[in-house]
This record gives sequence, C-alpha cells and structure tokens, in this order.
Amino acid sequence: MKIDLWFATPVYHHDANDADTEMIQSSVAQMLELEYREILSRDDARSRSYVQSRHPQHRQVLQKYQLDNLHHWLTLHCGGFVKKLHPDAKALEIRESWLNFYFPGDSQEVHHHMHPTHPSFISGSLYLQASPDSGDIKFYHPAFGVSGYQSAQGLETFEASYPPQPNRLVLFRSHVPHAVMPNRSDKVRISLSFNVYIQD
Ligand SMILES: [Fe+2]
Repeated sequence: MKIDLWFATPVYHHDANDADTEMIQSSVAQMLELEYREILSRDDARSRSYVQSRHPQHRQVLQKYQLDNLHHWLTLHCGGFVKKLHPDAKALEIRESWLNFYFPGDSQEVHHHMHPTHPSFISGSLYLQASPDSGDIKFYHPAFGVSGYQSAQGLETFEASYPPQPNRLVLFRSHVPHAVMPNRSDKVRISLSFNVYIQD
C-alpha cells in the first residue's frame, strides 16, 4: 500500500534572534500605548471579543509609525516564504498591518483573511507581548467545515496549534482558517497582524 500526501498546508514560523528581538521591541516600544488609546477612541474597537479596530487608519501601523526596520525584517521573512510557495512572484507588499489586544479571557473565532474584493496571498502574526498560556493560534484544514468526517487523528489531521511567544513570527496562506484560543494568562497578549499581496 502506498499513500501520497498531497496538498500541503504550509505554515512558516520563526523566533527572532537576540539582535532582531531588540530591533522589534525597540521599534514598537513607543507606539503600543499610543495605538491602543487611538483604537479605543473608535466605535468599533470593542465590536469583537478582543480589542482591534477595522478602521483603515489602524491597518497601516508599519507606515503610520514609520517602523521601517521592522517592515524590512517582515518583508524578508515573507519573501522567503513566498519564494517557496510561488517562485515566480515578482514582488510582494505588506499592504495592511494592525495590532490586536487580547485581555485575559479574550479569544478570536475561526476566520480567514480572504477578503472578497482584495484577497491577500499570505498573512501573518508577530507576537509582541505574549505568555505561553495567552492563547495559541490554531490552524484548521482549509476544507474545514466542508468535507465532513474530519478527525483530529490520522493523515488528514485538521488542526495544528502554535503557542504565542514574544518575537515569534507565524506566516500562513491567507485562505487558511485559524482562530485564537482564549487568553488564560493574567496579562494582555499583543500581536501585530498583516496581509501580504504579491505580483505575479
Ligand atoms: Fe487572523
């Protein structure tokens, strides 16, 4: 008997080294509190089970706070992932970037990042403040809810989790369903999320 495992669901993950950790944390040190206060000033800040604004103004944090070194670092990692997924891609652009604040008990339901009018190619999260029990990111099989008869065991395992850790980067194709488990710690979990578009 031979079973071929086709149709992989790749997830890229990387923990920043000491020098990059220093760059990441110094880049965001000034803006976390500022951005949090600004998000709270908007009506939609608490429309979900965690604090995030859908407003376009809050989806450009890399540009808004001129986080050029961080932007460059993210672009390098995204480029490495895109090269494996789509070797012919000519360019990539991180077009949306935003912060998420998960307070104790907060979580996020299953969703994906395939906006109907502007589908991105890959998406990612960089954890800025997170303890191990502050909510894993959990990925589901892209056919989640469609094929039925899915098992957490066996070759078609349909979910995979990554615990958050400060300065950990996780990248995935934008159509892959994912959720954030409840924050069971007593500290706020802060992540920077983004969507990446390619030109092919
Ligand atoms: Fe997401």
